[in-house]
Amino acid sequence: EKNTYILAIETSCDETAAAIIKNGTEIVANVVASQIESHKRFGGVVPEIASRHHVEQMTYVLEETFNQAELTLEEIDAIAVTEGPGLVGALLVGVSTAKALAFTHNKPLIGVHHIAGHIYANRLVEEFQFPLLALVVSGGHTELILMKEHGHFEVIGETRDDAAGEAYDKVARTMDLPYPGGPEIDRLAQLGEDNLNFPRAWLEEDSFDFSFSGLKSAVINTLHNANQKGIELDRKDIAASFQASVVEVLVEKTYKAAEKYQVKHVIVAGGVAANQGLRTALKERFNDQLIKLSIPPLALCTDNAAMIGAAAMIDYEKGLNTDWSMNANPALDL
Ligand code: KG4
Ligand code: ZN
Repeated sequence: EKNTYILAIETSCDETAAAIIKNGTEIVANVVASQIESHKRFGGVVPEIASRHHVEQMTYVLEETFNQAELTLEEIDAIAVTEGPGLVGALLVGVSTAKALAFTHNKPLIGVHHIAGHIYANRLVEEFQFPLLALVVSGGHTELILMKEHGHFEVIGETRDDAAGEAYDKVARTMDLPYPGGPEIDRLAQLGEDNLNFPRAWLEEDSFDFSFSGLKSAVINTLHNANQKGIELDRKDIAASFQASVVEVLVEKTYKAAEKYQVKHVIVAGGVAANQGLRTALKERFNDQLIKLSIPPLALCTDNAAMIGAAAMIDYEKGLNTDWSMNANPALDL
């Protein structure tokens, strides 16, 4: 039987990425050029700098991808690209590249939602079992998504203010930790103690929504008050207390939703899925084996193009192509 190869491109934020995926589940090549070093001194992603880096890096990333795969563009069956959401100027680089390649080589073009990509990162590791619940936690998203079949996403809960990763990055900034703050807080948290009693935002009973802005303010106020009184708080304990609050709410709401919707499979997706505290707590909570839990390897948690190729396979199999009017859409709906 003939194999299907999808070339995927992802440029929604600060990683220039390309990948080639075989039959929707196998990584043949996966290249990520990170721009983190360029954004670090600004304490966050600068959109204009991100776009320019994508333009500079794109052809090299593609060349490296084809070298890794030992394939030519002629052997590719479809070209997939992140259509949104994300930074519009950054997305445009990927979309323009994908369109140009698809047009000049007469290949089908498939636009992919970035979050569908994060979810499908898990399918590169394990086949989905439906109904499935996805906890999506990234720099821009915090959502619980129910899937009854491939390609169908029902948002059952979402953040009402900051995304989990955003809260990590903002708290890290007030602690003078480098960008991105998530991994830094994660590292410190493992050395500290949850002794500062930060709030847990459960919201209404039975709500699967999240809120992290109150927690963020509590951390900032605690730091500020201690500073005024001349007390020096241990940054390890601040990190541990903050992380304990985030993780407890994420894990409990995920567990409750999994029970309510009687899902067979829970998957975790997005950059914050790399968090060691979250990974450990989820494994403990779901250790009864009744519900299968999958967490992708670290490299597939943060932005990459392999996940975009995996998600695109679902549309490819259904014969769904995106037409030439496709454009970067910073606020694309799932
Ligand atoms: O999915 P991602 O790479 O990009 C977006 O689509 O947003 O996620 C990036 C986010 C950042 O906020 C970063 O701080 C967070 O994921 N992150 C982490 C960890 N690694 C990355 N947050 C907590 N713990 C980590 N280990
Ligand atoms: Zn992402």
